[in-house]
Amino acid sequence: MSHTQPMATSFDLAAIRSEFPTLKRRVYDDKRLIFLDSAASSQKPLAVTDAMDSFMKTSYANVHRGVHRLSQEATDAFEAARTKVAGFMGAEDREVVFTKNTTEAINLVAQSWGRKNLRPGDEILLTVLEHHANIVPWQLIAEETGAVVRAVDIQSDGTLDMDDFVEKLGERTRMVACAFVSNVLGTVLPVEDIISRAHAKGALVLLDASQAVTHRRVDVRALDVDFLAWTGHKLYGPTGIGVLYGKYDLLDAMPPYQGGGDMIDTVSFAGTTFREPPFRFEAGTPAIVEAVGLGAAVDWVEGVGLQAIAAHEADLLDYAMQRLAVSNDVRVFGTAPEKVSVLAFQLGEHHANDVGTILDRTGVALRVGQHCAEPLHDRLGVHSTARASFAAYNGRDDVDALLDGLAVCRELLG
Ligand code: ALA
Repeated sequence: MSHTQPMATSFDLAAIRSEFPTLKRRVYDDKRLIFLDSAASSQKPLAVTDAMDSFMKTSYANVHRGVHRLSQEATDAFEAARTKVAGFMGAEDREVVFTKNTTEAINLVAQSWGRKNLRPGDEILLTVLEHHANIVPWQLIAEETGAVVRAVDIQSDGTLDMDDFVEKLGERTRMVACAFVSNVLGTVLPVEDIISRAHAKGALVLLDASQAVTHRRVDVRALDVDFLAWTGHKLYGPTGIGVLYGKYDLLDAMPPYQGGGDMIDTVSFAGTTFREPPFRFEAGTPAIVEAVGLGAAVDWVEGVGLQAIAAHEADLLDYAMQRLAVSNDVRVFGTAPEKVSVLAFQLGEHHANDVGTILDRTGVALRVGQHCAEPLHDRLGVHSTARASFAAYNGRDDVDALLDGLAVCRELLG
């Protein structure tokens, strides 16, 4: 799909909503479901569920293994999905490794690249706003190799503290691993600057783009990023399928992450040789149906237009921020100038669980807790937050419903 796709001239919210059967559900006394938890996982359009259903009913077989017709069709569908995913982010097909999710993609790099390249005293530079998926894999490999994990601080509005980054980016930094977009604050990190400064010091960069690909165009070639990870289920696709992009030369120099079928060249008890990337990193029967679903999700997003989705979500974020700004008892976390439609907040001194539970009864579904970012919540000095996140199918009426729900919380919680 072209990367110069023009912005859609109109955004037909009603038409988009009609493609998501889940959004037609009524909850509690026939209330409309207001789904504001897409940063955790988005709902699925019919284009995705139909593609998976149809594939399973007509062309399903294992891939890369059969000479028979169905296996060839399944292999073609699986590899076509890889091509769509590669095109979506400006990569070559051979640079796209299918994983289970973002977490597995980051573990793959930490375990394969990390074990081969990290030495005692080497540094892995993260940020305090990382999701646990981009912290724990690095801690595990650091413990094993003697490397050291460091974290860059943020400023009070949730932007990255670039002075701290520059100070911590040192001669021993081998890997900078950071979020493209914070899953709590919505902050868009200055990744171009991060990448060029890291490269100047000889460090590689891995971006956790899970919350970025749903909101903006991510072009790995333009970014010159070394590794980039994201997941299907946040991009209107199924669970069970994620993506690791790696520059081919880097992938080619990396040992396998897991061993098994499909990733080998020859196997004997004298020794085994391995296939080229990406297959070297895809041991066992892959998530075939899910890959087909992800390909359909990419097509769906491209069909609506990422720019149109981003513009729509920016309007929702502005509207929500304006409406919340007049509520003196709502504290919003993350007010960076570059921010996507993820909105973490606290209502007075009320516990986020209470707020989330009452909102749920009004039909509003959002996430409460630490959103897999405990160090960030420690840094913010709060135990937990409520988080509303907006996707293509949300409208200003959903923001209004959130505000109405908060009024109910005030009434009930005092
Ligand atoms: N990473 C997902 C979230 O932020 C689960 O909610």
